Amino acid sequence: MRVYKVKNYDEMSRQAAGIIASMITLNPACVLGLATGSTPEGIYRELIKGYNNGDLDFSEVKSVNLDEYQGLDPNNDQSYYYYMTDKLFNHVNIKKENYHLPNGLAEDAAKECARYDEIIKSLGGVDLQLLGIGINGHIGFNEPSEKLEKDVHLAKLTESTINANARFFKSYDDIPKHAFTMGVRTIMSARKIVLAASGKSKAEIMPAVINGPITTAVPASLLQLHPDVTIIADEDALSLL
Ligand code: F6R
Repeated sequence: MRVYKVKNYDEMSRQAAGIIASMITLNPACVLGLATGSTPEGIYRELIKGYNNGDLDFSEVKSVNLDEYQGLDPNNDQSYYYYMTDKLFNHVNIKKENYHLPNGLAEDAAKECARYDEIIKSLGGVDLQLLGIGINGHIGFNEPSEKLEKDVHLAKLTESTINANARFFKSYDDIPKHAFTMGVRTIMSARKIVLAASGKSKAEIMPAVINGPITTAVPASLLQLHPDVTIIADEDALSLL
């Protein structure tokens, strides 16, 4: 695990985007695993800058997102599909047929999980997986638990995650309680992983991720077992380390 401590959110965004940009330059047809949430917004802004100034070409890039809420229409502005088109895909030359997210409206959840697993396999796996981190140590929606799921599955969100998401929804009833997510094996099979973290709210969990015992109670601690993980975190996120 390489840990890069950077000054603030902007520097985290530039550094993480720099790694993704290098991947695209070295392998223009790479498969990116993408995340949503507040953390990667700045990273996506940097990638759009790179595209606009002619340094980056997404025409052969493929992507698979980590997760999607169950029950949200892609046009719902809280869906991860909406987020990705709004914050990245609509601003670069990635082809529509080349980006993938789980279908939150799928009627048969088991079938949808199998379909999404198959897409990831058919692309040959993920070259670079971008991750954020939940304040409870979740990655994707693999929540702290006695046991973790290997493959794409429908996850029940914990109260901690539901509360963390509450700010984006009008009422408690509107907050999704389940999400399709890559499993831990899916994430750990990525050839390279970049985890970005910013802000004081992440300070408490970061020591457990980096130095803590490897435990399903902190799903991100499993990343210690991966041969190629880069953590880019700002001073606030690493303030308790
Ligand atoms: C998002 C995802 C989540 C977030 C995590 C941190 O696709 O899988 O694990 O990365 O909840 O969210 P933010 O960045 O909003 O703090």
